[in-house]
Amino acid sequence: MDNKDTYLLNFKGYNFESSFVDADFLENLDDFEIRDDDVFIITFPKSGTIWTQQILSLIYFEGHRNRTEDLSTLDRIPFFEYNIRKTDFLNRPSPRLFCSHLPYYLVPKGLKSKKAKIIYVYRNPKDVMTSYFHFSNLVVRFEAGNDMEHFMKRFLDGNVVGSRWFDHVRGWYEHRHDFSILFMMYEEMKKDRRSSVLKISRFLEKELGEEDVEAIVEQATFQNMQSDPRANYDEILKYEVGKRTDEGHFLRKGTVGDWKHHLTVEQNERFDKIFQRNMKDLPLKFIWDLNEE
Ligand code: PPS
Repeated sequence: MDNKDTYLLNFKGYNFESSFVDADFLENLDDFEIRDDDVFIITFPKSGTIWTQQILSLIYFEGHRNRTEDLSTLDRIPFFEYNIRKTDFLNRPSPRLFCSHLPYYLVPKGLKSKKAKIIYVYRNPKDVMTSYFHFSNLVVRFEAGNDMEHFMKRFLDGNVVGSRWFDHVRGWYEHRHDFSILFMMYEEMKKDRRSSVLKISRFLEKELGEEDVEAIVEQATFQNMQSDPRANYDEILKYEVGKRTDEGHFLRKGTVGDWKHHLTVEQNERFDKIFQRNMKDLPLKFIWDLNEE
């Protein structure tokens, strides 16, 4: 199926996936009532969303941590703008946890009271693009069947769900003072899961005992998430999102530097130039390969 562009819905300059989003909801985003103890995970797609969902779910829910409850992370932490299970957000008990790919300028204005918290996870964009390339080939709704050169153009032009990666990251970073926000880097999470869990729990003011921290760190590994039906999104991808083949998973590789297996030398140099042009004055650190330090 060629879904060229038909799956994109552009609303106020930002691309949404058209079939999973509700137009009325978008129109009223600004005024969506935010509670002081709401928590949002915000990411550009393919930057570590479901990983952070798993960590938050483990932090907040003892029944998730000790495996006595069998509820998927999507039910515990629904997608805000892609409410595919029609969760009743307004009557949800506090604290409400959400994840979202929204850009800074479309989130409910109540977040600017700086009471509710945001965890913004970013990842080096070559790995984001590589992950996204595979995901686009996997998901029925997305445009597929093309090579990396074709996808790279779409990605760099922002013709994907989430629009331009550069605008997303820059926007959130430059407006960070308007929100109560913690920036997490995928590669740092990969390097040191334990410190990342502690950083997140401190930001959320959640006291955790040593045993709890251990349980969270352990259950947030790529391998353990991959084999945990509550966390791996396999069923959701198959029955709710829609896959092209039986192959392929949300949790694909979970590594740093996989872009090296997908970009040619020329594509990499071209990417670097565009990255430099767009990001050179932004003080955010990026890690492209875990061996580089
Ligand atoms: S989405 O579609 O936007 O919600 O995708 P998102 O969850 O943001 O990103 C998916 C990528 O995150 C990887 N992932 C992990 N990496 C390391 N450790 C853990 N525990 C983990 N969980 C998810 C997932 O494998 C996707 O990256 P790639 O590179 O495709 O493997």
